[in-house]
Amino acid sequence: MSQENPLGLKKIHHVEFYVGNAKQAEFYYRKAFGFSRIAYSGLETGNRETTSYVMRQNRVTFVFTTPLEPDHPAAEHIKLHGDGVRDIAFLVEDADKAYEEAIRRGAKSAIEPHDLKDEFGSVRRAAIHTYGDTIHSFISYNNGDSTTQSNGHHSYKGPFLPGFIEQKVEGEGVGIQLIDHIVGNVELGKMNYWCDFYRDVMGFHRYITFDDNDISTEYSALMSIVMSDGSHNIKFPINEPAEGRRGKSQIQEYLDYYKSPGVQHIALLCKDIIHTVSKLQENGIEFLRVPDTYYEALPDRVGKIDENLEDLRRLGILVDRDEDGYLLQIFTKPVEDRPTLFFEILQRKGCKGFGKGNFKALFISIEEEQKRRGNLF
Ligand code: FE2
Repeated sequence: MSQENPLGLKKIHHVEFYVGNAKQAEFYYRKAFGFSRIAYSGLETGNRETTSYVMRQNRVTFVFTTPLEPDHPAAEHIKLHGDGVRDIAFLVEDADKAYEEAIRRGAKSAIEPHDLKDEFGSVRRAAIHTYGDTIHSFISYNNGDSTTQSNGHHSYKGPFLPGFIEQKVEGEGVGIQLIDHIVGNVELGKMNYWCDFYRDVMGFHRYITFDDNDISTEYSALMSIVMSDGSHNIKFPINEPAEGRRGKSQIQEYLDYYKSPGVQHIALLCKDIIHTVSKLQENGIEFLRVPDTYYEALPDRVGKIDENLEDLRRLGILVDRDEDGYLLQIFTKPVEDRPTLFFEILQRKGCKGFGKGNFKALFISIEEEQKRRGNLF
């Protein structure tokens, strides 16, 4: 494992959510977001503790898990946080080595390395803690042949992980392709601590920094640092609230309702955002909207783009440009009753940024929502 990638991370394997009712979450992510159910674990498969549905759309895999008993740790998680992300799990070269190296570098253990086995083969899994109650699992396929593993092939023949049976229920895909980044909200004064964690433990580096001048309105502000792995395939921005404005930072609102640091949003890449957002809106997904004046100023701000301005305005899609190209993005409203986790739909056309030019318009729109919730002042 190299200096650049000390834990041997390959990619995000899946994101697991703890939810109050996995059956209904499955329906929502299938019918509204277009994921397909591919695997299942629950009472019928001999799992007496939890029910989990594995949902996939192209290269994005989500797992929705609910506890079946009140004394299960997932029940505590849901009681405290509401529905939310529990685990950002990585596929790694060797779960034991990743875990040992992470611990040696100062990570706190969540789950010690162990085998997961069923009739389809075996998998090695361990986990460490990150911000709040969120963990990072390390998963490797141990077929005893490291050359095969480094080729990305593995011996595990099951539909997902041991303990899951194949269960296919097709969703009507909306063109979601890949996770671009996953943002964590942490407490005031803790952003640098968690950036150092991703640097020192995971071998990430600071990719972009936004201070409270980049991300502020009259009422509120936040600060953000994007941490990235060496290949820029895994990007984890870390946000903290900023003080000294008249209103409450949207990050503080999140912390007040999630009751701890946690995942704020997951950005999902697509190839044709007009198509994807049209579908999502047809399916009933609610997005934040910026004032119409945004679109009047857009041509001067971003110059020539391939998309029709009217389509963008109708759908509420935002555009930003940097020296390498431009991006198109839009943000859902929170997908829980608590104002916590939401999603970003993102298309990159060369641009490697995060939409800095949209922050102001976006945050004014978020503040309007906060005001309606009675949480701005
Ligand atoms: Fe984002």
